[in-house]
Amino acid sequence: MKIKKFTLFYFSLLASSISLSLEHYPEEAAIASAHSLASEAGIEILKRGGNAFDAAIAVSAVLSVVEPYGSGLGGGGFFLLHRSKDNLQVMIDGREVAPISATRDMYLDEDGNPIPRASRDGPLSSGIPGLPASLEYIANHYGNLPLSVSLEPAIRHAENGFPAYSTMLKLLERKINIMNEEAKRIFMPNGSIPSEGDLIIQKDLANTLKILGEEGFSGFYRGEVAKRLVEGVNSASGIWSLDDLASYQIKEREPIIGYFQGMQVIAPPPPSSGGIGLINMLNILSGYQINNLDSVSRIHLIVEAMRRAYRDRAQYLGDTDFVNVPIDKLIDKHYASSQRASININKSTPSNLLPGISPIDYSTGDQTSHFSIIDNDGNIVSATQSINFSYGSGFIPKGTGVILNNEMDDFSIKLGTPNGYELIGNEANEIAPGKRMLSSMTPTIIIDDRGLAVLGTPGGSRIITMVLLSALAWNQGESAESITSLPRFHHQFFPDLIQYEPDAFSDDEIKALKDKGHSLRPLNSSYGNMHVVTWDFETGDLDASSDPRGHGEPRFLESVNLE
Ligand code: GLY
Repeated sequence: MKIKKFTLFYFSLLASSISLSLEHYPEEAAIASAHSLASEAGIEILKRGGNAFDAAIAVSAVLSVVEPYGSGLGGGGFFLLHRSKDNLQVMIDGREVAPISATRDMYLDEDGNPIPRASRDGPLSSGIPGLPASLEYIANHYGNLPLSVSLEPAIRHAENGFPAYSTMLKLLERKINIMNEEAKRIFMPNGSIPSEGDLIIQKDLANTLKILGEEGFSGFYRGEVAKRLVEGVNSASGIWSLDDLASYQIKEREPIIGYFQGMQVIAPPPPSSGGIGLINMLNILSGYQINNLDSVSRIHLIVEAMRRAYRDRAQYLGDTDFVNVPIDKLIDKHYASSQRASININKSTPSNLLPGISPIDYSTGDQTSHFSIIDNDGNIVSATQSINFSYGSGFIPKGTGVILNNEMDDFSIKLGTPNGYELIGNEANEIAPGKRMLSSMTPTIIIDDRGLAVLGTPGGSRIITMVLLSALAWNQGESAESITSLPRFHHQFFPDLIQYEPDAFSDDEIKALKDKGHSLRPLNSSYGNMHVVTWDFETGDLDASSDPRGHGEPRFLESVNLE
């Protein structure tokens, strides 16, 4: 889907970097998100005088209401912003943090073994949420409108209800056994799983959103809401305190920037592993004519780049407020050359032959949520938010309507032990009070002389490789729609196998990859839910696409004096 507006853009390729200098703006806006009500809320806020940042608040908050399995006020997120008036690019880090009482071995039994599901079910698995603070922070520092206005659509949908839909109900059925009574009361108002089209009404959540809108940070992190959150958590063996909430802090972070065959790629820094991983993989691949290779060689080299980047993720990455991460080295082109030197074009490299890290069935794509926005002034938001696995911890503290995350599972709960995404890690990502758990969320902006693409997706550990495949597709001239429908494959160092969507590879490709020594894991279903907005600098076209695997629909706001 496209809208068209002819404007001129000036774009220059400098010695080693691309400088985006917009002389004209699109004069329209486009939003792609996981739910049409969320995209529409963003457009509503733009019409009321908001900019992309206000629209992002509206989209984010509506997703928290209508996609309760994916993200919410009880979780966190990363908001990658581009502000056109001063070319500022910044990431608002609203990731959850470990509670003050958290300890490194809190999910291990007396023998030092992980207690099954302790980091995934119930409020002991919940980090201190960052999403409400992100919304307030963005409104205060970047928005045009008061927070209370941008939250209005979300309050309306929580109060009046939204129609239940298939994915939401399928996941509810799957997670209902771990939910507390309050969550069951809200999502099963008649005592059983609702039917498609039944209204899901969330009065308590509407009230919490109202208080957040009126009182800002204090409305959620102090006072009555905070008290209810802490009481609820601690009545079910959680370890939150009022101090945990009151001391939560948003961080502004400088994005990771890399270059690949004429593209500038802007992506999140730690505590996301996305930016470093993505740039590292692109750097490795920049040593090949990746677009001119036969399909098997291309897949093989991409997989070998994935393997090496995920090995480094496990080895080095964690919250940079707590540990030293060698970011400069990991995104350095010379470092990538040394990684490339270990790649054999004819044979896979067994992961256990790569240095470091001792070894380690999940479904993905239905948790977490991404949205992309470009407004008529050229402001951009690429945001991914999460409560981790579907319906997070399954726990709603009484009277809040807020479903809490189970993001603590993103820490390395025992060195070398796989988490819910089969990811391993070491000391860099061990639990510490106030520390942010490592994430794979990768909201990204790509700029080249063709235009600009704003993209991201849910999908746990597979997020970074989905963004990589999308970046390569953009580089090959693909449209927003073909990027979201691209077949997907993934490798993450351990387990040492290529995971792939049904029909991603032909029989011949599968045989040839096996001949190169790869193990393959065909997946039963597709994964991811990518939302892309693009802007063609030559024609001025805005284009947007929501992943055909999900329920999202993009929305556009055309200018009144459109030619
Ligand atoms: N909770 C998934 C991630 O942040 O990577």
